[in-house]
Amino acid sequence: MNSILAYCRPGYENDTANELTSLYSERGIYGYPDFIPKQGFTKFQLYEAETLDKALKAYAIDHTVFPRQLVAVFASTQHLEKEDRVGQLLALLEDCEVPDITFGAFDVEYPDTEDGKTLAKFCRKFTVPMRQALRKKGILLPKENINKPKLHIFFESFATCYIGYSYPTHSSPHHLGICRLKFPAEAPSRSTLKLEDAIVNMLTDKERNLVFREGARGVDLGACPGGWTYQLVTRGMYVEAIDNGLVDESLMKTGLVEHYAADGFTYKPQYGRVDLLVCDMIEQPDRVAKLMANWLVKGWTTHAIFNLKLPMKRRFETVSEAMQAVKACLNETSDTFNIRVRHLYHDRDEVTVTVIRTSKEV
Ligand SMILES: C[S@@+](CC[C@H](N)C(=O)[O-])C[C@H]1O[C@@H](n2cnc3c(N)ncnc32)[C@H](O)[C@@H]1O
Repeated sequence: MNSILAYCRPGYENDTANELTSLYSERGIYGYPDFIPKQGFTKFQLYEAETLDKALKAYAIDHTVFPRQLVAVFASTQHLEKEDRVGQLLALLEDCEVPDITFGAFDVEYPDTEDGKTLAKFCRKFTVPMRQALRKKGILLPKENINKPKLHIFFESFATCYIGYSYPTHSSPHHLGICRLKFPAEAPSRSTLKLEDAIVNMLTDKERNLVFREGARGVDLGACPGGWTYQLVTRGMYVEAIDNGLVDESLMKTGLVEHYAADGFTYKPQYGRVDLLVCDMIEQPDRVAKLMANWLVKGWTTHAIFNLKLPMKRRFETVSEAMQAVKACLNETSDTFNIRVRHLYHDRDEVTVTVIRTSKEV
């Protein structure tokens, strides 16, 4: 049965399933989710095999929240023997209907789980002979071309794997859909990686250059100890850091940071409109969403990047409701915004939201 395979953070299979069901039904693509909790992926089994490509093209990965990668699966097996896996997979490809696509890239992947890690070494080694065999058969171009569709072989276990493809315009360019970032030693907290992940992976080059300019002003609500402020300061921005806690001493010494021990829910920008509002306060997602919308609508900030902390249950619904509230407020302004919501690799039980104002006067 053809399916869309969505890689996700282990523990988020149900949320991914709910999201895919909602997204595909909006486009008239029908099927049902199929997953085992904590396995690090969800399959969306399509009732009609011929809707596979339509389903893959329906949503770019950036327009989804929980999936790290989306792959259109057209073949699978649960019975791989230990000997000659390359030969068995080639035979499987010969027996199935391989989409009429020239593949320019190839990856062998596995779930981001403890069990998945036991497959990592095998997958790395297996990539080389499998790639050669695919090239020999003419399924894969002789030279890698990342602008062409990618063929994915996803091992659930040594015996079970899925073969599928993705389009570069609609997928994550990263192995396993994960962009690992190196923790900057001088940053005051690991939280810094969440904002860096958003800056690197959620904004276009144009948006990044627009928002993160030397001399621009930002407000960081719930700033301590300063991991997010650090991201702004290293890009030459001035920051009003709001938190009752202490901001890292080395950040204060840059002369770019003013610390205010105040409540993030009542704070107003000291010197008028700022370029960017960031917020990582541990608070109810609907409260944070309303606060962010209020800053954007009142024009206290041009853009915003914030995290919504997720409850244990109904996480997809919680995100949807919070974002509907934000969008409803923003729709009342005459401005336009690019809004993205992603469960990033460096996020834990939270999602990151970027709201970039795109109106002409910005
Ligand atoms: C997850 S931590 C922020 C970490 C920070 N982003 C970093 O990278 O270092 C959440 C912070 O929000 C602050 N906070 C929670 N509620 C707040 C409020 N109402 N006003 C201001 N700060 C608040 C807490 O004191 C805490 O320091």
